[in-house]
Formats: sequence, C-alpha cells, structure tokens
Amino acid sequence: MLLMHVYMETYGCTANLGDSKRMEAALASGGHMVVHDMQDADCIIINTCVIIERTERNMLKRIEALRKSGKRLIVAGCMPAVRDIDAETIIPTKLEKICELFDLSCEIRKVCPSSIGVTGILPISEGCVGECAYCIAKKARGNLLSYPLETLAETAKSYVEKGVKEIRLTSQDTAAYGLDTGVRLPELIRTITSIDGGFRLRIGMMNPATAFDITDELVDVFASKKVFKFLHLPVQSGSDRILDLMRRGYSVSDFRHILEAFRSRFPEMTISTDFIVGFPAETDRDFEASVALLKDIKSTKVNIKRFSRRKGTPAYDMPDILDRVKKERSRKLSMVSRRISLAVHRSWVGRSVEVMVTEGGNNQFSDYRCSAALKGSENENSMCKDLVVHGKGAGARGSIIARDGTYKHIVVRTDQASRMLGSRHKVLITDARENYLIGEF
Ligand code: F3S
Repeated sequence: MLLMHVYMETYGCTANLGDSKRMEAALASGGHMVVHDMQDADCIIINTCVIIERTERNMLKRIEALRKSGKRLIVAGCMPAVRDIDAETIIPTKLEKICELFDLSCEIRKVCPSSIGVTGILPISEGCVGECAYCIAKKARGNLLSYPLETLAETAKSYVEKGVKEIRLTSQDTAAYGLDTGVRLPELIRTITSIDGGFRLRIGMMNPATAFDITDELVDVFASKKVFKFLHLPVQSGSDRILDLMRRGYSVSDFRHILEAFRSRFPEMTISTDFIVGFPAETDRDFEASVALLKDIKSTKVNIKRFSRRKGTPAYDMPDILDRVKKERSRKLSMVSRRISLAVHRSWVGRSVEVMVTEGGNNQFSDYRCSAALKGSENENSMCKDLVVHGKGAGARGSIIARDGTYKHIVVRTDQASRMLGSRHKVLITDARENYLIGEF
C-alpha cells in the first residue's frame, strides 16, 4: 500500500484523544506520516464525539465540510458507533480496523500511546458497567474491558523512561477498572506509583457508584506523593429522585461519603464534579438541591451540561422540559460555580506552592479540538478549559502552565518557557481567575 499523509482531527473526551494517539502511533509504525496541515494530507481521519445532540450536529457539519476537500475521509469515534455514516469508519471498540484500512501489521491494543510534551495518556479500560438512562457513550463504547495491569505498568514505565512527568489514567470510569478481572484501581495505582521516577499520576473520572466500595483503599493509594490530589467525581444531581431516574446507582449521601473520606485526609484536594441540569422531571426543588450541593462542596472545577435527549437511550422517551428552563438553570448553576471557583482561587493568592511545569511555550494539545464538543455546555470539560485559556493567550508563548500537588492550573510568565517543560519550581501565587491561578517564580 502507498504510504499516506494523514491529517487527524479529534473531538470529545480524553478517551477519544487517547484513541487518536494510538491510531497515530499505529500509522507511524507502518511508515505513514501524520501531518498537521490538512493541505498536506492524502487522507483525513475525524475522531468524533456525540455526547449531546448539538455536538452531533456540529460533527455532521464538520464531516460534510471535510468531505468537500475531495480527500479520502475516515470517520472514527463515537458517531459511527451509534449511527450509519456514509464513509469508511472506525468505531472505538474496534480500533484495530485502522490496521486493515492502512494495511498495518501492528496490534493496536499493544501500540504504546504516544505522549504529548511531558504528559502521557494511559487509557486503562474501555466501556463501563453503568446503565445511565441518558448516556450515549455506553452505546458507543460498550461494556467494561479492563486492560491487563502488566501491560499498563509496562506502558507507564516506558512513559517515565521517555521523560513523561504527568501520566493521566483515563477511562469512561476509572473506578470501574478491574470489575471484570478482579484487579481493581487501587492495585493499579499502587503498581504504577512503585515505578522509579519523578512523575505524578492524574486519576481520571470515577463514577461514585463504582468508587463507593473501594473508597478507603483509594484514599490510601492517593496518599502517595506520586498521585495528584485531584478527584473527578461526577455527581450529576443533588436530588436522589433525579439520580434514581438517571439510573446512576448511588445517592447524594454516597457521593458525600466518598468526598468526605478524601477531604478529611487531603483537605486542600481539588474536587471536580459534573452536573446535568434539566433532566426530565427535574423540578425547581430538585434543581435547588443541586445548587445547594455545589455551594456546600465548593468544587472548583464543575462541568455543567444541559440535558440533551439522545436517541436509543431510555431518557429519550421521558417527557423533556422546556429549553428556556434548562438554559436558565444552566446559567444559574454556572454563575454559582464561577463565584465559588474565584473565591477559592483568591484564597490562594500570597501562598507559595511547589509546581511542576506540564505545558510550556505553546499549546501542547493543539491537535485536540474541543470547540464543537463544547457547544451546549455552559462549563466545558477540564482539558477544553485549558485550551480556552491557551486560546486567550494565558498559556501562550512566553508563559508556562504548571500544576501543583492538587493539580491546580497555574500560569507563569517567563521567557524561558521552551526550556522549562517537566521542571519543578516554587511559585508565588499573585492573582486568581475563575479557571486558573497566576504565579511568579
Ligand atoms: Fe467521549 Fe464524546 Fe464518545 S465524550 S465517549 S467522545 S460521545
């Protein structure tokens, strides 16, 4: 087969980004070249997200625009997994299809995902064990398939040997890791943190339903200096009635129990959570319970999504509530969230913190597109937030992004940016914004 120049666009969550990186590595192993300018490409791969209806519409528009280029077009990701697409396709559960399409002899599951700067993405499993009433991602990514602990430890070790300083464990639900194999997440974290080297682990989203029974073990392994004190625990609603309708499998008090266990051991831990507003049958009272919960837990990273009906999910047939009500609730919760983040961040001004430089000079994630996935959500996911900050110049050339032990996002101006990636420093926090802090060396 002719060697090809391939241009890739990636949308959606870190799992999709991880899939793209694996596909890139597979292409490179077969001698194909991944190019960053579409004009130089013979072939385009768009790795899609369909998490909400508006994202799906934007994806369809983008696919049509790319089709007009006349180049070979491959649609990958969650869209072809949930609807018919008139193109060559690769779905997330069958990534090995890329080997067939490009005549590669590699085994995609064994292809080490490549790192971005000093950050390595390590997908630990595929799919999930949940049955959430609204979720389309389950349809796209299927049931839980945990990757073997030995393979993950080997990949982590190879990252560390290559100079990676931040390893992100990613999955639709990291706490579900091993429910199918018996080797659970605490053991995986313990194994990876025993690898020699100056790196830290960032543990991705955990569903409270699967984290609940391993809370104590998780708190213990988070005590390692090699684990960022960062917890992404999506609650989705402050009302038990709505959580039941959502089929989330936990109650508000279960969520609080996990949070308290972490907070009592790591009081300054960064807490990230997600809310869905306007779920069918959500009353003003249910919504106010979400507002009260957020005010109480003071999470500084909050992803807020307006409920979006996704065909093929149980919630599709539930009576939807008015768009303007959803918008108003989303606006109100976002305002509360912004106020909390700013107040908490301001309380850090004047403090001195140890940081590690994880992004420097220019945008390390420049090949990762969030804009389409963002639409419809008042408060974008954390990686997208980083990009928005970059886009506004806060992390642009002449400054670096650093993370302290609680994974706070700290921007520091410097003319040494390109040489600082991966280094550790002491930084004085001089100012605060809703999404990040500003510091000086
Ligand atoms: Fe991720 Fe979007 Fe699929 S959030 S799992 S890429 S629907």
